[in-house]
Amino acid sequence: MFSKQLFKTYLKTNILGQKIIYKNKTSSTNTDAKEYLYNKNFHGSIFVSDSQYNGRGRRGSSWESTPDKSLTFSLLLHPEIKLKNIGLIPLVIGIGIVKGILISTSISAGLKWPNDIFLNNKKIGGILIETKQINNYISLVIGIGLNINEQINDISENIIKKTTSLSIHASKTFSRELILANILDEFEILFNSNLNSIIDIWESYCIHQNKNVTFHSKEEIHTGTFKGISENGYAKIEIDNNLKKFPSGMIIL
Ligand code: BTN
Repeated sequence: MFSKQLFKTYLKTNILGQKIIYKNKTSSTNTDAKEYLYNKNFHGSIFVSDSQYNGRGRRGSSWESTPDKSLTFSLLLHPEIKLKNIGLIPLVIGIGIVKGILISTSISAGLKWPNDIFLNNKKIGGILIETKQINNYISLVIGIGLNINEQINDISENIIKKTTSLSIHASKTFSRELILANILDEFEILFNSNLNSIIDIWESYCIHQNKNVTFHSKEEIHTGTFKGISENGYAKIEIDNNLKKFPSGMIIL
């Protein structure tokens, strides 16, 4: 069971994760967080569960997790950020996750556009960002699912070829509390920093820079060469010698 007390001993942030709403079992931590979309006092709160029975992934998929072994949580943000910079948030989140994992476990994961965390070409995590514009500001629910201590037989047969966990990779178990605390520390450090070099950092963790990629945007599938990230956080893809830009696909509530 996830220990709030242990998590707090590791956490070094001023704001992020200081308020934690923990449920042993819930439908989806993103749904839990959405109840506080209009409450500015909950900026930086996290919603954690040991077991989701209706976990949601991107593009309407479901998100599989294993009770007490996966890390499933959502971060609620009411940032004072200009609308045009909102596209940089998914980059911050991806980088913070990879750095938090590295600090906690010495494992180097990578990033796959738009919001996947990869290890040796297999997925270990995903990010589902849902946003809502309220008056002049944007609220975000950032849902993160990470495979931490799952063993091979915890993962469904239909995804085992393309999915792994930190534990399968390293043949040992890890503290979910430490990983979560380090990820939130990294988010806060990044959000408080000048975001000028965020694109270069994201590209340095990207597993397919200048490689051929196939991905979904809206209802279409595109194939091209991934050329990096534009200044507002869009993917730059070269398709038939034309450079096209695609947003990361945050869901608008
Ligand atoms: C993806 O499809 O890759 C995104 C997966 C996001 C899963 C997380 S788990 C915590 C939060 N609650 C949800 O229902 N989904 C997100």
